Amino acid sequence: MPEKILVVDDEQDIVKVLSKILELAGYEVISATSGSEAMQSVRAGNPHLVLLDYMMPDMTGLEVLKKIKEYSEETYVVMVTGRGSEEVAASVMKAGASDYVIKPFVREQIIKVVKDTLRIRGAEITARNLQQEVQELNRDLEHKVEERTKDLIETQDKLIQQTNLASLGEMSGGMAHEIRNPLNSIALYSQIMMDEITEEDPKREYLTKIMSDVDRINAIVTNLNLFSRRIRREKRPIDLLSTIKTSLRTLSTQFMKNNINVELDMEPEIPEVLASAEEMEEVFSHLLVNAVHAMPQGGDIAIRLRKMKGNSKADFLRDAPPAQREYVEISLKDSGVGIEKDALKKIFIPFYTTKSDWEGTGLGLSVVDRVINDHGGIINVESEPGKGATFIIRLPALESGAQFSAA
Ligand SMILES: Nc1ncnc2c1ncn2[C@@H]1O[C@H](COP(=O)(O)OP(=O)(O)OP(=O)(O)O)[C@@H](O)[C@H]1O
Ligand SMILES: [Mg+2]
Repeated sequence: MPEKILVVDDEQDIVKVLSKILELAGYEVISATSGSEAMQSVRAGNPHLVLLDYMMPDMTGLEVLKKIKEYSEETYVVMVTGRGSEEVAASVMKAGASDYVIKPFVREQIIKVVKDTLRIRGAEITARNLQQEVQELNRDLEHKVEERTKDLIETQDKLIQQTNLASLGEMSGGMAHEIRNPLNSIALYSQIMMDEITEEDPKREYLTKIMSDVDRINAIVTNLNLFSRRIRREKRPIDLLSTIKTSLRTLSTQFMKNNINVELDMEPEIPEVLASAEEMEEVFSHLLVNAVHAMPQGGDIAIRLRKMKGNSKADFLRDAPPAQREYVEISLKDSGVGIEKDALKKIFIPFYTTKSDWEGTGLGLSVVDRVINDHGGIINVESEPGKGATFIIRLPALESGAQFSAA
């Protein structure tokens, strides 16, 4: 398509001559004989270039030039001025003209100035577009880098935490082992003393206290052992639904007593997972007991099971499973008190608890986290104070048709 040029001059003859010269050179030409008409033509025709007379009756060329530039940066203007004043030339260039020609001019001069200006215009517009594109790409890239950095920091935090937990696990496993034996003798001797004293003996009360404390320490030691994962239980293909049901059955009186309604919902055809059923029961019991504690006035627990495919989120980055790997997702939602933002980062840390002495040791969720990790899964939590909490577990699904050889 030929480039479009608007010729503006109040003298009809000049318009005619200029139009002819430019048409012969292959351009499309439109024309105007006043400033206001020129503006109309610019708006209607969007010319690439305007050849603009400096002296016009209704507006000065400078005014028209400013208006054109205001309207469109991409309309380039070459000013045609009368003989003489260098100042005029300087002022039109400052106002945004691309070049100027001094009357009287010859044909070659006009063609050269038009051709040069259009060439520069093309180059400048291309450069501007490219710059814009680069800016957009940069913004895009910055955004992506930001997102990936966030993902990486999250993953790194988790890794650091896991490394710390692994050494803590070692230590607590050792401790649990060392505590068990003396604890057994305390329990044993307390029992012997209890048998030796009369029913009315006031020491009976002390011994009862000692024995219940021993029970409590024993429970902590059991959790420490689970957390340290010294005792690994055998993994088999299991059906999570029946594991969940077992945990629910064990806790059913607690639900009733605390006015808690449990809803269980699952997609059809949930694949099996390779896991220790005992450990999974521990996991669900810990989560369910926490939910009960979070709902002192009663409330609802919703458990959902579904099948899903792995995605590229940071959650899955750690084990870098193939994107198409299948997971079973178990979500456990309660309508309890919820968790403060600061606490959310700490709940999986061993011994972090908001419960008073007899209610919690703060080991429940750290055991849950360890067990899930040991099964190649992940656990996440979403919660806001006053809005309940949702724990989401993802475990790799057992591949359909995979052979399992019992160890
Ligand atoms: N469903 C929940 N709603 C609100 N807060 C929760 C929930 N689950 C856990 N928490 C918070 O996380 C903390 C840590 O939980 P965790 O199970 O590790 O320990 P605990 O319940 O305090 O003690 P333990 O489980 O050893 O008896 C809890 O003290 C509680 O503040
Ligand atoms: Mg707990």
